[in-house]
Amino acid sequence: MFILAAAGSAIGLGNIWKYPYIAGENGGAAFTLVYLGCVAVIGLPLIICEILVGRVTQKDPVGAFRTLNPPKSYWPLAGVLGVVSGFVILSFYSVVAGWSLAYIFKAIDGQFATFTDSTIAGAAFAKFSGDPWQPLFWHTIFMLMCVGVVIKGIKSGLERWNKILMPALVIILLGLVIRSLSLPGAGAGVAFLWQPDFSKITWEVVLLALGHACFTLSIGMGAMITYGSYLNKHENVIKDSVVVAVLDTAVALLAGMAIFPAVFATGGEPARGPSLIFETLPVVFNHMPAGALVGFFFFLFLSIAALTSAISLLEVPVAYLVDEKKISRAMATLGSAGLIWLLGIPCSLSMGSLKDFHPGGRTFFDWMDYISSNYFLPMGVLLMAIFVGWRWKDAIKEFNVGTKLPSGVGTTWITVVKWVAPLLIILVFLAQLGILSGD
Ligand code: PHE
Repeated sequence: MFILAAAGSAIGLGNIWKYPYIAGENGGAAFTLVYLGCVAVIGLPLIICEILVGRVTQKDPVGAFRTLNPPKSYWPLAGVLGVVSGFVILSFYSVVAGWSLAYIFKAIDGQFATFTDSTIAGAAFAKFSGDPWQPLFWHTIFMLMCVGVVIKGIKSGLERWNKILMPALVIILLGLVIRSLSLPGAGAGVAFLWQPDFSKITWEVVLLALGHACFTLSIGMGAMITYGSYLNKHENVIKDSVVVAVLDTAVALLAGMAIFPAVFATGGEPARGPSLIFETLPVVFNHMPAGALVGFFFFLFLSIAALTSAISLLEVPVAYLVDEKKISRAMATLGSAGLIWLLGIPCSLSMGSLKDFHPGGRTFFDWMDYISSNYFLPMGVLLMAIFVGWRWKDAIKEFNVGTKLPSGVGTTWITVVKWVAPLLIILVFLAQLGILSGD
């Protein structure tokens, strides 16, 4: 079912690992507010664009742009940008998913019992992630899992599981929220997440929030074009998109509510960076009845959520190679995954032997994440908005296929796609380049 596939792509590490850590680094509520704004004004209208383009062309991202354009146009390059984004994002994504896999086993063998506060849990995470071999081993296992699923084409089998896994993940998160909120000192975390300090909103924060809105909804690189291409004409794309955007946002906010109260209650620090959930949640498990079991299921579900997202990332280069370059599915998958695996090695080592290599203040891992999420994806979204808004004559007609909405909805949508979304993205880019003063 399409909606399960799309939700499976959207809900992943972005919601549970990345949102809390960047919100923690960028003012909590202030960041959250801008991020929610970006999801509503840019994310939702553009996820609809991508799915519609996929549905009408039934093609991979490059082929989709080629089909809808005259033969010699440059638009297919927008699809190529998506293929590149897929490579870059999956390289660091797989490393983090590997951490999550490793933590399933740490939960089982009772290691969390020694994590009595964030400092101890933090030191244990630093030791594990800084080890030259262990995280690489898990990164390799995770990439092999992706390859297995994509080669065998058992994606739909996995997606059926989403029907059970998603609610299970939400239930665990709810349990964590309750436990976390009842820890002494949790109030400061609630305030951090919900009371905005507007002075924290800088252009950099806006760029990060925009990038994250794209990342978390899986837009700007063609994943939703690829998934839309499996759709039949009569599926209600608009309803599905709203459901996916709402679910995705709800999971992120739940993760925030599970983590920040615990961060403050356990003496942690919100701006810890990518390690945040790995040093906070095990402490919470430790304070719960049957904590080891809860921890086991939490990291199991998180790993599967990461897998269903990672598959959608890998599908983009694979679909491109199969459809456009006529390479066999097995070769395309192995080749892409091999390259991604290689690119993941320096990402993984960024926590250990390459920790002190940070040109421009960022490690290799951080650069991969920063550039792909905040520049490649918004650029992909911008190109998609310009294409659908200005070049695709049938956009409104396609919008109305499969839905029975009043005509004003379609008109509002196309106005946002044509004007509001591109202008906002261009504004953020210009501000970031220092062309607009402010900050
Ligand atoms: N949306 C996924 C997540 O939040 C990540 C992703 C990004 C997947 C881009 C596909 C494309 O974890």
